[in-house]
Amino acid sequence: MVEEGSRVGVLLGGLSTEREISLKTGASVAAALRRRGWDVEEIDVGRDLPAKLVAGDIDVAWIALHGRFGEDGCVQGLLEVMGIPYTGSDVRSSAVAMDKLATKRALRGTPGVTLAKDVVVVRGGPLPHDVGFPVVVKPLVGGSTIGISLARDATELQTAVAAALALHPEVLLEQFVAGEEITVSVIDGQALPVVRIVPESGFFDFEAKYTKGLTRYEVPAPIDAEAAGAAQRAAVAAYRLLGCGGLARADFILGADGVPVFLEINTLPGMTETSLAPMAAGAAGMSFEDLTERILLGATCMPSEVQSGQS
Ligand SMILES: Nc1ncnc2c1ncn2[C@@H]1O[C@H](COP(=O)(O)OP(=O)(O)O)[C@@H](O)[C@H]1O
Ligand SMILES: [Mg+2]
Repeated sequence: MVEEGSRVGVLLGGLSTEREISLKTGASVAAALRRRGWDVEEIDVGRDLPAKLVAGDIDVAWIALHGRFGEDGCVQGLLEVMGIPYTGSDVRSSAVAMDKLATKRALRGTPGVTLAKDVVVVRGGPLPHDVGFPVVVKPLVGGSTIGISLARDATELQTAVAAALALHPEVLLEQFVAGEEITVSVIDGQALPVVRIVPESGFFDFEAKYTKGLTRYEVPAPIDAEAAGAAQRAAVAAYRLLGCGGLARADFILGADGVPVFLEINTLPGMTETSLAPMAAGAAGMSFEDLTERILLGATCMPSEVQSGQS
C-alpha cells in the first residue's frame, strides 16, 4: 500500500502522559525517514487531529504516539475511518494490548506463555485475603510504571490498592516474580535478539527498578540460550494471538528456574535511537533507518465495504 513517493505523516506528541517520549520517538523516526528520502510531515496530535490529517494531505501515517489515544486503538480507529493506512497494530490488538488484564486473559492457556498468578480488585469491591506476598499492584491500563507498586503485607496492600484505584476503577494484583528483566521485540512476527535490563545498583529488587537510576542494557542478553529461545517464542505467540502488526515489544521477568514470565506487550514501544527495540534490531544487523522504513512499508488499513461513490 505504501509506494515510493508516498507522503508520510509522522504522528507524534499526543494527549497522554507519555507525550514527551513520543515527541522524541517522532523526531527520531521523522529524521530517519527523511534520511531515506521520504517526504515527511510531522503532525503533533491534539483534539484537532482530524483537521490536521485532512490539511496534511498524507498518504500514510507512521504512528509515533505512546499511551492513551495513540497506543490504545483510538487514533488507529480514526485512521481506519479516514482510509489512511497506518503503521503497527490495528484497533483491536492495540486496545487489548493496552489493557493488562485483557492481554493476560487472551493469552491464558497458551502453550509456552507463562503468566504470573493474578486477581482483580474493583473499586468498592472487597480485597482478597488469600493473596501471597509480595504482590505487585498495578492499574489495568497505563504504562511507564505509573501507579505500580509492591506490597509485602496486608497493610501495604491496602495503601497500594487505594492509590492504584484512584487512577483506575480496576486494579490487578499480580504475584511478584523474582528474577531478571528481559524484553523481546517482534517485527512482522519475527523475534529480535533478547535485551536484558540490568540496574547498575546491582539490586534486583522492585524499588531499584523504579528509581530512575542508571540502567545497563545487554544485547544479545547473556542468558541461557534455552531461556532466550523460550522468551522469543512466547513474545511471538503473544504477538500472533493478539493480532499485532509491525513492531511490538514484550516484557518478561526471567525467573531463577529459567522460565520467562510474560508481563505485557507494548504495541508502540519507544523508537528513539537508543530505545530497546532499535537496540535489539541493531543486534540483528538492522539499522534504525532499516527498522523505521520496514515498519512504514507494513502500514495498512481495512478496505471500505462499499465501492467508492456509493457511500
Ligand atoms: N509480577 C511482577 N513481578 C516482578 N516485577 C514486576 C511484575 N510486574 C511488573 N514488574 C516490574 O514492573 C515493571 C513494569 O511492569 P509492566 O507490567 O511492564 O508495566 P508498564 O511497563 O506498563 O508500567 C516491569 O518491567 C517489572 O520490572
Ligand atoms: Mg513494561
